[in-house]
Amino acid sequence: MVDERAQLEVARLGECRIDSPLSAMLRKRPTTRHYVDEHDRVLLDDTVSLVSARGVPIGELPGFEPGGPRAKIFFDPSKTRVGIVTCGGLCPGLNDVIRALVLELTNHYGVRRIFGFRNGYQGLTARYARPVVDLDPEAVSGINEYGGTILGTSRGNQDPNEIVDCLEQLSVNILFVIGGDGSMRGALKIAEVVAERGLRLAVVGVPKTIDNDIPYIERSFGFQTAFGKATEAIRAAHVEATAFPNGIGLVQLMGRHSGFIACYAALANNDADYVLIPEVPFALDGPGGFLEHLRRRVVDRGQAMVVVAEGAGQEYLTAKGVDASGNVRLEDFGRYLRGRIAEHFAAAGVEANLKYIDPSYTIRSVPADPYDSVYCIRLAHAAVHAAMAGRTEMVVGRWRGRFVHVPIALAISSRNLVDPDGDLWLSVLEATGQPPVFA
Ligand code: F6P
Repeated sequence: MVDERAQLEVARLGECRIDSPLSAMLRKRPTTRHYVDEHDRVLLDDTVSLVSARGVPIGELPGFEPGGPRAKIFFDPSKTRVGIVTCGGLCPGLNDVIRALVLELTNHYGVRRIFGFRNGYQGLTARYARPVVDLDPEAVSGINEYGGTILGTSRGNQDPNEIVDCLEQLSVNILFVIGGDGSMRGALKIAEVVAERGLRLAVVGVPKTIDNDIPYIERSFGFQTAFGKATEAIRAAHVEATAFPNGIGLVQLMGRHSGFIACYAALANNDADYVLIPEVPFALDGPGGFLEHLRRRVVDRGQAMVVVAEGAGQEYLTAKGVDASGNVRLEDFGRYLRGRIAEHFAAAGVEANLKYIDPSYTIRSVPADPYDSVYCIRLAHAAVHAAMAGRTEMVVGRWRGRFVHVPIALAISSRNLVDPDGDLWLSVLEATGQPPVFA
């Protein structure tokens, strides 16, 4: 049986001996509903049944190390050099995280040297010769007003030995990696080389993806902004569909393996009649298939609204290999479905006015909404506290509403998926009225 308690243990560079500049703020805060003391744990399970099923004494229940400032820290701030890198696809809030890291490090810990590496891991690899950017409060002023990342990004990992060479040359003590699962795999390799070389260098991640597919992290930053932006496409398609006889609105939204964006955007509008996601397979053809159901609905009700996640229905298409991050290159299911709907209605002699919208990158290139901005700042604060306290090979996350430290190995061990037996999908079925299965 997997020892979850061991898997949840966060690596430390060593004992914390230095008084934190933030210790005055901490005083003697006990664990409360709003704060978790550093010696406490945030339980993995949150129901009586889940806890009881463990059948172990309460002190042996698996739990996360809480995030937050420590009274004693590992790194001497005046001698600490920090690097920040953003990797992978864009995500609303990247600039908020960069700015909050820089402000917290500078204003509260008194760190004086922060490097920004350009274009993801390429910026740490000599052959790309990307200039290193100096980051200070002035350099990051107002950047949170903009989408994208001031540091630029790229897909794909680079040789971890070359990356650690670069970090050693610049005498970097802490590397913050803001990236998705592929980038975190790279971060883990960097941390492994750091350990092999016996360096005092912390690698701390801030997990990023609009797809919300990182496990043990209730919600990734940028997800809320992205699905909020996606609702505009659904609204537009719905307006179009309701204006025409037998109007069909079809919107394809990002979501490679996980249909969270499609589910949340559809629920936010509450206008979708169908949501198709990768986690719930569906038949297109046949009497119980999606196309037949859609045609009957359009004939009965005069219109329909369909939301698909881009990773849905890939079994109907042929994959085109993998991208630089190792992700399967998806085929365009939205366009395929548009064609299949048109063919199906034509074959049945039923008029259809199909309006197709794919907002694509527009949902992830925008600045973070206020809620995500707050979340980004708080994740960045937690990341700084963890790194200054010598934690490494970990990402910051939020679990049961608490900020926690998650070992990278655990964060990349699986994928967060919409559970077809869970309450989110049930809400989607309730809101859309679609059958639980198209078979
Ligand atoms: O992983 C996040 C994401 O936005 C996915 O939803 C999407 O499939 C992918 O990135 C596309 O990114 P790119 O075209 O930059 O590779």
